[in-house]
Amino acid sequence: MRSSPDGASRGEIALDAISRVFGGGVIAVDQIDLNIRAGEFFTLLGPSGCGKTTLLRMIAGFETPDAGRIVISGREMQNVPAHLRAVNTVFQSYALFPHLSVAENIEFGLRMRRIASPDRKKRVDQIMALLQIDAFARRNPAQLSGGQRQRVALARALVNEPDVVLLDEPLSALDAKLRAELQVELMRMQKRLGMTFVFVTHDQHEALVMSDRMAVMERGRLLQVGPVLDVYEQPRSVFVAEFLGQSNIWKFASHTGNVAQTPIGDLVVATPIGTQRTAMIRPEKIWLYPEAEAPGDRPNLFPGTVREAIYQGAATHYHVELVGGAMILALDTNNQAAERSWGPGEKLVLELKPGNIMLIDG
Ligand SMILES: Nc1ncnc2c1ncn2[C@@H]1O[C@H](COP(=O)(O)OP(=O)(O)O)[C@@H](O)[C@H]1O
Ligand SMILES: [Mg+2]
Repeated sequence: MRSSPDGASRGEIALDAISRVFGGGVIAVDQIDLNIRAGEFFTLLGPSGCGKTTLLRMIAGFETPDAGRIVISGREMQNVPAHLRAVNTVFQSYALFPHLSVAENIEFGLRMRRIASPDRKKRVDQIMALLQIDAFARRNPAQLSGGQRQRVALARALVNEPDVVLLDEPLSALDAKLRAELQVELMRMQKRLGMTFVFVTHDQHEALVMSDRMAVMERGRLLQVGPVLDVYEQPRSVFVAEFLGQSNIWKFASHTGNVAQTPIGDLVVATPIGTQRTAMIRPEKIWLYPEAEAPGDRPNLFPGTVREAIYQGAATHYHVELVGGAMILALDTNNQAAERSWGPGEKLVLELKPGNIMLIDG
């Protein structure tokens, strides 16, 4: 791990009670505490307007916090202007210089920092090779596709070898296939270079695919921070459960031991219920059986009728009406579609295994 003079890891970011209030009393960022580790791919996920860009701009130094401290690589950032921070930003709009070639765009930052010419050329060549844009070195941005332009924007940030790369929805303007390719590439590149990436997106799928850890943001606050798998599998609030993937959620007023009385009926859960009043299960965690094959001797078996089957290629979503009238969403992968698929009006039995039901506070 790379170390800074005072011993803190290069690329470590510590935010301590950071706030930003805009005119008119909009609290864009509300007392956020967050530690981002050196060399991790960290994603800020949240709906539009929740404060992601504002938070990123404060780390970059384009925006000044109204309260709180920012420490990057062990250095307090309060009096450090943006251009002296070991941070580079990649924006959604590529912001390339239209009259400079690809190579000149990438070289620009090194020129500003008065890096000597032979060294400049070497670094520009290396980064262009890494991002596979060397074939377009002499073209202008207007002669590139969206995906190629975004690679140039990325190269321009990486060539400076910053401790931290900030990326504000850099892939959202790209079409789905290219976007999926660049997601994987970006992730590999980050691992290879070892820089800290702070990636902002409103796309939950993107956050799941790319990140080591993530934070879910709502109205200027961090609702939950953790490894991607933990946040998805164990959401601590209804907002996180609903924002990150699909879910069936039931509030319940009463319970007995580990049985919750929910709108779909009694639901057995794996652990005794404490203060939680909401039960959640992901559609893919529900087991589906033809009526004749349902196991008779287990808890949480719910017969129902398919009202809608939405085929999605690799999987099918089933909107199922249970006997009492409640609707539930289940997902079945299509690896055995020939033997197992249901159309509207067909009956089946759903099993909600206790271990797959999460309890949420509130
Ligand atoms: N320069 C600004 N002046 C006033 N309000 C702003 C400014 N920038 C952002 N905001 C407001 O702050 C909130 C957070 O915005 P932003 O950080 O851009 O969110 P996100 O990037 O998550 O979409 C929004 O309500 C937005 O309207
Ligand atoms: Mg934004």
